[in-house]
Amino acid sequence: MEKTIFSGIQPSGIITLGNYIGAVRNWSRISEQGKGIFSVVDLHAITVRQDPKELRERILSTLAMVIASGVDPEKNLIFIQSHVSAHCELSWILNCYTMFGELSRMTQFKDKAQRYADNINAGLFTYPVLMAADILLYDTDLVPVGVDQKQHLELARDIATRMNGIFPKLFKVPEGYIPSVGAKVMSLTQPEKKMSKSDPNPKSYISIIDEPDQIMKKCRSAVTDSENRIAYEEGRPGMNNLLTIYSAMTGETIEAAVARFEGQGYGAFKTAVAEAIIAGLSPLQQEYRRLMADPGYLRSVYTRSAEEAGAIAAKTLARVHEQIGFVGR
Ligand code: TYM
Repeated sequence: MEKTIFSGIQPSGIITLGNYIGAVRNWSRISEQGKGIFSVVDLHAITVRQDPKELRERILSTLAMVIASGVDPEKNLIFIQSHVSAHCELSWILNCYTMFGELSRMTQFKDKAQRYADNINAGLFTYPVLMAADILLYDTDLVPVGVDQKQHLELARDIATRMNGIFPKLFKVPEGYIPSVGAKVMSLTQPEKKMSKSDPNPKSYISIIDEPDQIMKKCRSAVTDSENRIAYEEGRPGMNNLLTIYSAMTGETIEAAVARFEGQGYGAFKTAVAEAIIAGLSPLQQEYRRLMADPGYLRSVYTRSAEEAGAIAAKTLARVHEQIGFVGR
């Protein structure tokens, strides 16, 4: 049986190297095992305030970046979340089977409630329920994500299992796919924090469309330590992060990379990390520019994908309505 793979990305900034290594580049890799359904999750993005004009532009550029990262729109669906209304509809139903206490334990909610203390809206709190709806609507087998989404994914599994206990076989219980290297790429300026596209300091992240000289500058000023020794060791988050990025971009193991740079200074190592990123991203960047110059093509991808995704989602929603006791239309 062909597997269904689902994942999403928020259009809340330009895709970072963290998003790319931790998730998006794996979308194309594992979608070879089945059917990939990928979404630019605009509904999730408005849990924090967005500028309408910027949001609209970012939804489209994020879609283009997903395609440029290697997800083939001929074989997979790449749609905009708000174009398939079943996501909100199922989300409401799942809300009624999700406990306040469970949502209160979500670490991302706690972090964001601190960061956006003047806007702790209900959407921020129920965000993981919408994410569960995204996944469960497509009878998803595999969800490729970075490590920061693991707790949300566990919640989606818990909700599905709980509802299956009441309504037999209602949902397929999905599995996560978290890469062994690069599941949590760290900030370049504060390496104990994850690299994030919504970080106000652009030096903290590399966006996948950064120019080569920007990438070089950001890598060369990345925070490391004063050990002056290239090794992957506990307590050295900056060094470990650069080695992880190098390994993820070149395919060389961390051990091999450590051996290669033995005895060299940080300057040479950081330059090599930057060069590996620049070389890895260059084809993607060319493809991105080509796609952004062709809005008609992007529109054809998201329109067709939303139609197909909508048809699958509508079937699941009808099944849920039937089992929980609603009257069919
Ligand atoms: P988002 O937009 O924050 O991130 C998109 C993907 O990138 C991964 N990621 C990282 N991986 C490694 N290192 C990092 N520093 C890093 N930062 C982000 C994330 O784990 C994610 O896989 N809630 C989700 C989007 C979503 C979703 C879904 C995902 C909505 N519905 C259903 C899977 C299934 C989010 O905010 O991702």
